[in-house]
Amino acid sequence: MFKDMVFTPNEFALLAKMDKSLVPALEGQGYIKTHRKKIGNVDRKVISMEEIQNFFRMIREFDTAAHESKNASEMGSGAEVAGSAIIATDAVAAATDIFAVHPNKKTQMFYNVKGGTGKSTLTAQFVMMASLFGYKVLAIDLDGQGHLTVNLDVLDAHERPTIYDVLINDLPLADAVMNVAPGLDLIPANLGLCNIEIPLNNKTRREYRLSEAIAKIADQYDLIIADTNPAASILNGSMLVASDRVNVICATNPLSFHGMSLVMATIDQMKKEFGRDLDVKIIPNMYDNREVISQEVLGELRSQFEDVCAKAVVNRSADMNEATKRRTTVWDVNTKGTAAQDIAELTHELLR
Ligand SMILES: Nc1ncnc2c1ncn2[C@@H]1O[C@H](COP(=O)(O)OP(=O)(O)O)[C@@H](O)[C@H]1O
Ligand SMILES: [Mg+2]
Repeated sequence: MFKDMVFTPNEFALLAKMDKSLVPALEGQGYIKTHRKKIGNVDRKVISMEEIQNFFRMIREFDTAAHESKNASEMGSGAEVAGSAIIATDAVAAATDIFAVHPNKKTQMFYNVKGGTGKSTLTAQFVMMASLFGYKVLAIDLDGQGHLTVNLDVLDAHERPTIYDVLINDLPLADAVMNVAPGLDLIPANLGLCNIEIPLNNKTRREYRLSEAIAKIADQYDLIIADTNPAASILNGSMLVASDRVNVICATNPLSFHGMSLVMATIDQMKKEFGRDLDVKIIPNMYDNREVISQEVLGELRSQFEDVCAKAVVNRSADMNEATKRRTTVWDVNTKGTAAQDIAELTHELLR
């Protein structure tokens, strides 16, 4: 399970994109703390999730301080600084280039009118990864199937309030929020949410209720990320009103590609209707470079939607299903796998 995840020093080095030989210097200088944990029969040196999050947060704080300080060049230099401290400072400086990012689009939704393209899976993987990077994240499940909810290891959602109670029964949004892991909160969904369209349709300012509710808690989070239901529903329209970016997940198969013009038209129509100038990104998923058809669809996506197609591509990988089954991140399943790399790259791109 995600919330119990720990990293070995080598796994941390992969995540932080640094050479593993740098980790002891970081540890020696107190930038990162390890503890011992029994994994199977072996007593291992590990780093907790909170420690990982603190490391990336510290990098962003250093970066902010460096920008604010007139004497930034003096930071970490000077003859009195010992060898290991210099190595550690250099490692932190190198990480700063990659990780000192303040999310450019705070509120995002994962969307497609077609089901089965990987919306819920990628939403779950993105929010877990972003929270590992130390961002405070609110995930919102807007699909009555509750797949994001299950992916984030909440199995008793039928007993919990959902966005239905917020939008229809005026429950304060904060009262529907639950914590699922350090730095990661969730508004879960259950089957009851499938009945929201008719009562929501009867409400005044129906498409604005969600963004008004989100606005009240927005300052508590770095990122607010929604998984949506596969339809052109009022609920999805409401999330569009609240969003800075729509991430359209497109599987690299012919039918998914065929549906893209409809999806883009739907988004354009909603943008006009609500006067929203929001960013759109198409994310190719389930790519398989051994399949000619997969290559063709990716090529078509990139040429037809040149301006909005993401650089990141998510390959088809069994790790993705395994992560869903174990209700954790692909990094927990296989740190060295393509899925782990793909999700990290996607996360870096979506933070910008
Ligand atoms: N990159 C991938 N590689 C392999 N399987 C994937 C990948 N992305 C999604 N899946 C699988 O595809 C199925 C549908 O994904 P899901 O996220 O539920 O789609 P949606 O939310 O769009 O309906 C799930 O079984 C999921 O594990
Ligand atoms: Mg889904």
